[in-house]
Amino acid sequence: MTPTEKCISGTIIILLIIADTLYSIADNRKTILVTGGGGYIGSHTVVELLNRNYSVVVIDNLSNCYARNPSEKPESLKRVEDLTGRGVVFYDVDIRNTAALEKLFQIHSIDAVIHFAALKSVSESVEKPADYYENNVAGTNNLLQVMKKHKVYCIIYSSSATVYGEPEFLPLTERHPTGQKLTNPYGRSKYFTEEILKDITATNSEWRVILLRYFNPVGAHPSGSIGEDPFDIPNNLMPYISQVAVGRRSKLNIFGSDYPTKDGTGVRDFIHISDLAVGHLRALKKIFSNKFKGWKVYNLGTGKGYSVLDMVKAFERASGRRINYEFTKRRPGDISAVYADASLAKRELNWKAEKGIDEMCEDTWNWQRRNPNGYR
Ligand SMILES: NC(=O)c1ccc[n+]([C@@H]2O[C@H](COP(=O)([O-])OP(=O)(O)OC[C@H]3O[C@@H](n4cnc5c(N)ncnc54)[C@H](O)[C@@H]3O)[C@@H](O)[C@H]2O)c1
Repeated sequence: MTPTEKCISGTIIILLIIADTLYSIADNRKTILVTGGGGYIGSHTVVELLNRNYSVVVIDNLSNCYARNPSEKPESLKRVEDLTGRGVVFYDVDIRNTAALEKLFQIHSIDAVIHFAALKSVSESVEKPADYYENNVAGTNNLLQVMKKHKVYCIIYSSSATVYGEPEFLPLTERHPTGQKLTNPYGRSKYFTEEILKDITATNSEWRVILLRYFNPVGAHPSGSIGEDPFDIPNNLMPYISQVAVGRRSKLNIFGSDYPTKDGTGVRDFIHISDLAVGHLRALKKIFSNKFKGWKVYNLGTGKGYSVLDMVKAFERASGRRINYEFTKRRPGDISAVYADASLAKRELNWKAEKGIDEMCEDTWNWQRRNPNGYR
């Protein structure tokens, strides 16, 4: 883009945002604050929010999403604006920055918060536990304090199946014990935050809290313009497989081939990112309903377990490329099989995952081949 084109496109986006804000006031549209909205799950959820006519304000500290320079919006959100034809208000704000949050809540009339912002690498959390507790637990506590001060009491929290620890039974229902046998600080940071959220609803009946426990989000928007773009070596299976397919990495290491599963590799409940994003919209509908009180927790998964080798084969089918892999030792703390019972979300949120592993792999591949270097 030439500097003139950049200037024109910047002006158009600003005009879109002003028009959007005016419309939202005129038609009583709800405004959702999305923390960590520049990241993988956040950006896909922002697409769904905009498509359903919510106004969206995003904060992100850019620690795990790419912006060309710090004064610009993350690339993911620029693409979200192109996809939806709607503007997103963005602030480069850290959830630990009380003064910046205060200012934001003064400027915008927020109806609910969808809280994605967190550090999420299991291995990094083992090396830097204090950073994880500070960012994920203290950061959330700070956000909650500011929300309370501004009388914003609705929050949807990104939790994780990791809070269940090693399963005592499968499929995992929401009643499975949590917080036991957790093997890493990341998982504990998610568990502690859940407990904080439950505690605050016990002492103040104004709070409305939904905890969504995600299983393994994979895939990308079907357009191929937004997807998962980890800064470092991917921690999760799918971005790793797709980076091998596109030639960015030479081979996939499969950790463990001797688990008591059908082919010896770990089994997980993979869920398409678009299904997961829609889950947040259903949770919002629930939280805004008059009857909703206190806190509720829902699993978001497909209910089906696929092995690592199932995913490799599905990816080979989708991409037409061979995935080079090698078996290595099990990673400490890894569990043989984890999958959800997602029937509560079906009953109470009217939500069900629709997309299967072939679509997950096709959409991941579509994103990766169009963007071999992610957003860069
Ligand atoms: N991706 C998964 O496999 C998975 C599974 C279960 C739960 N979750 C949870 O879902 C949420 C979103 O995950 P994701 O995969 O989109 O991760 P992501 O890293 O792509 O997105 C998180 C975003 O939050 C931002 N962020 C981090 N700390 C922040 C802070 N202090 N202030 C402001 N912004 C901050 C990052 O820059 C990033 O853009 C996280 O809470 C994660 O723990 C993810």
